[in-house]
Amino acid sequence: MFNAPMKGISLIFLAIFFSSILTPLAFSEPIPKKDAQLIGEYTAAMIVAGRGVVARNQDLINDPTKGDKGFTPDFVQTQMLKDFKKITGKDLSELSPPVQQVLKQVINAAKMSVQMNQQRINKPGVGFKMYIPAVFGRETGQILKARTNINIKQTTFKYRNAYNQPDSFEKQILKKFKAPDYPKGKGYGEFINGRYRYMRPIYIKKACLKCHGSPKGAKDISGHIKEGYKEGDLRGAISVSFPVH
Ligand code: HEC
Repeated sequence: MFNAPMKGISLIFLAIFFSSILTPLAFSEPIPKKDAQLIGEYTAAMIVAGRGVVARNQDLINDPTKGDKGFTPDFVQTQMLKDFKKITGKDLSELSPPVQQVLKQVINAAKMSVQMNQQRINKPGVGFKMYIPAVFGRETGQILKARTNINIKQTTFKYRNAYNQPDSFEKQILKKFKAPDYPKGKGYGEFINGRYRYMRPIYIKKACLKCHGSPKGAKDISGHIKEGYKEGDLRGAISVSFPVH
C-alpha cells in the first residue's frame, strides 16, 4: 500500500505516538525498603480513591440520554487527588519523591484506563456500560503491571473475574481479615521474597448490594450472579506488591 519512504515515515510517526503515550509509565526501579510501607498503603488508598470517583459518577456514566459526559482522564485525576487527600490527609506534593513517583504512575495508569474507555463512556443511547469501580481498578492494575513492576489487584475468595483470584499469600491475608477479632479496615503489609506486599480490606457498602447482595444466585445488571453479601461484610482486598532493595 505504501511505497518504502512512506512506510518509513509512518513507522516513525507510530514510534513517536507510542513513546509519547508510554513514557509516563516508564519501568520503575526497585523501591527502597524504608519507603515500602508508605508506598503500599498510599497506592492502595489511591485505588480506593479512584474506585470512589467511578462510583460517585456511575449514574452519569450510565446516563443513556447524554453523549459527552466530561468523565475525562483529567477530570478523574483531579477528583482522585481530592479523594486521596480525604483518605490520607496528604497532598501528593507533600510526599517524598520516591512515594510521589509511584503514585504518579498509578494515576497515569488510571487515566489511561479512563482514556481507553472514552468511546464506551460517551456512547449515547446506552445505559449500563460495564465501566464500574471493579473494572476501573482491574484495568489500572493491568496497565501498571504491563509497564512497571508495581502490581495492583483487587482480590477476593468469591471472584467474578478469574484475573482477580487470590494467590497463596493473598488467601492467607484474606483469611486474617475475615477473622472476627481482626480490626476492621486495618491493612496488612509484609516483606516476602524480595518484595513488599500490602493488602487493604474492602467491605460491602449499601451501593454494592444491587450487584453483590441478595437474592443470592440472582443475576445483577452486569449479568453476573449475586453473591448474597450483606452490608459490612468483607468483600475482598486491594493487593499491592513491588520489588524492594
Ligand atoms: C453494577 C454492578 C456492581 C456494583 C454496584 C458493584 N460491583 Fe463489584 N463487581 C461487579 C462486576 C461485574 C465485577 C467483575 C469485574 C471484572 O471484570 O473485573 C466486580 C468485581 C468486584 C471485585 C473484584 C473481585 C471479583 O469479584 O472479581 C471487588 C473487590 C468488588 N467488585 C467490590 C465491590 C464493592 C466494594 C462494591 C460497592 C462499593 C461493588 N463491587 C459494587 C459488579 C458490581
